[in-house]
Order: sequence, then C-alpha cells, then structure tokens
Amino acid sequence: MSRPPRLGPQSPSSLPFSPTLLETARVRLCLPGADAGLRALTYVKDNREHLGPFEPERPPDFYTLDYWKLRLELDREDFVEDRALRLMLMPRGVAPALAPVIGSVSFTQFRRGPLQMCELGYGLDHRWQGQGIMTEALQAAIPFVFERLGFHRIHANHLPENRRSAATLRRLGFSVEGYARDFLRIGGQWRDHVLTALVAPDAKPHPPR
Ligand SMILES: CC(C)(COP(=O)(O)OP(=O)(O)OC[C@H]1O[C@@H](n2cnc3c(N)ncnc32)[C@H](O)[C@@H]1OP(=O)(O)O)[C@@H](O)C(=O)NCCC(=O)NCCS
Repeated sequence: MSRPPRLGPQSPSSLPFSPTLLETARVRLCLPGADAGLRALTYVKDNREHLGPFEPERPPDFYTLDYWKLRLELDREDFVEDRALRLMLMPRGVAPALAPVIGSVSFTQFRRGPLQMCELGYGLDHRWQGQGIMTEALQAAIPFVFERLGFHRIHANHLPENRRSAATLRRLGFSVEGYARDFLRIGGQWRDHVLTALVAPDAKPHPPR
C-alpha cells in the first residue's frame, strides 16, 4: 500500500527546519534540539506549581535532563513525520542558543484526510503572564498551522475555572462548542472541560438547510 498524499498545501518535511520556526515582536517560537534540554527542564521545574493544576499526570522521569534531551529530539521527529508541532517560546533579544524557555505551544493529534484537525495546548512561565505574550505567540502560530500546514480546524479545551486560558482563546476568536464531563484526568481526578474550536478563516459557510 502506498502512502496517501496529504491534503495540506505543503508537507512539514519540505519546510525550512531551523530551530526558530516563527518570530513575533517579543518571542521566538522554536523547535530546538537536545542542546536546549536544560533550558526546557528549568522551565518545567520553575513552573511545576503554576502548570500542574491544568495538566495531566507526567511520567516519572519528566523532571530529568535525560527526558528533555530525548523529548526535544522526538518533538522534531514528530513534526517531520506530520504527527505534532510542539514549540518552545523564547524571548527575542537574547541569542537563540542562550535564551531561556518561557513557555510552550503545542499542536498535537494531527488528523489529516477529510478532518484536517489538531489540538492546541500551551503554557507560559508565571513570570511572563499578563503581558499578552501567549496571545502574540498564538497570533503567529495559528496562521502557520492553517496556511502552511493546511489544517482546517483547531480544538482547544480548558478547565471551566481557567479564566486566563478562556480569555486568551476568546481573544483569538475561538468559540465554545461544548462542555465535556470527566474529559481529562488531572491530579488523579477526572475533570470537566470546556471545548472550544477555531475554524480556518477561509472555511466555507454552512450550506443552507
Ligand atoms: C493560559 C496562559 C498561557 C495565559 O497567559 P496570559 O499571559 O494571561 O495570556 P495572554 O498572552 O493572552 O495575555 C493576556 C494578559 O495580558 C494582558 N495584556 C497586556 N498586553 C496585551 C496585549 N498586547 N495583548 C493581549 N493581552 C495583553 C491582558 O490584559 C491580560 O492580562 P490580565 O488577565 O491580567 O488582564 C497562562 O495563564 C498559563 O500558562 N496558565 C497555566 C497553563 C494553562 O492554563 N494552560 C492552558 C491549559 S487549557
């Protein structure tokens, strides 16, 4: 059986593959290699309490350097293989090889064929909140995902009490599409989530009934 052609305008493996994929006025969105392992580890360690309440349980070795060195290599592989795009945010104005990781943006669960859909997740260092940095990063990442990767729909889900995340999604034009009971297991408990989505701006309107 031969591999079916992708519907997107360009396959990820044909994109330029430098660690910096996108830049905004204040941040770089990067796909760094193992050399950024220590900086990624520092980010997750420094933000363990800040991010923990919103994320599923992590593997036992999540807070180790070996995990992050391998994980960053696998993230690059996932992008080349059209499975996921996991980006690290780094401030501009610091040399890329030295810049700290201040957040992450991930598009996962790539579904091609007639769906052309993926799932968005993100987190920001607690010291960088409240400045519009995540909105700015997503304003660059989302057009890339629609226009360059050819997706049609992005899903993003949040805990009902996650006011900051809900506001960021609203600002970006995501619409609430539903409410899922016991959606994700966080901290040993099944937690309800608000389901939101953004459809590519050039999507055709629904046909009249
Ligand atoms: C969700 C999260 C990324 C949002 O961070 P954030 O900094 O509030 O996000 P934004 O980039 O949208 O910034 C909005 C804030 O910056 C302010 N701001 C300043 N300049 C701004 C600008 N140019 N544009 C937009 N907002 C701006 C806004 O007023 C707002 O602050 P406020 O809530 O105090 O009013 C962050 O809270 C986080 O990491 N939370 C933990 C992990 C998490 O929840 N992940 C998502 C799981 S669903």
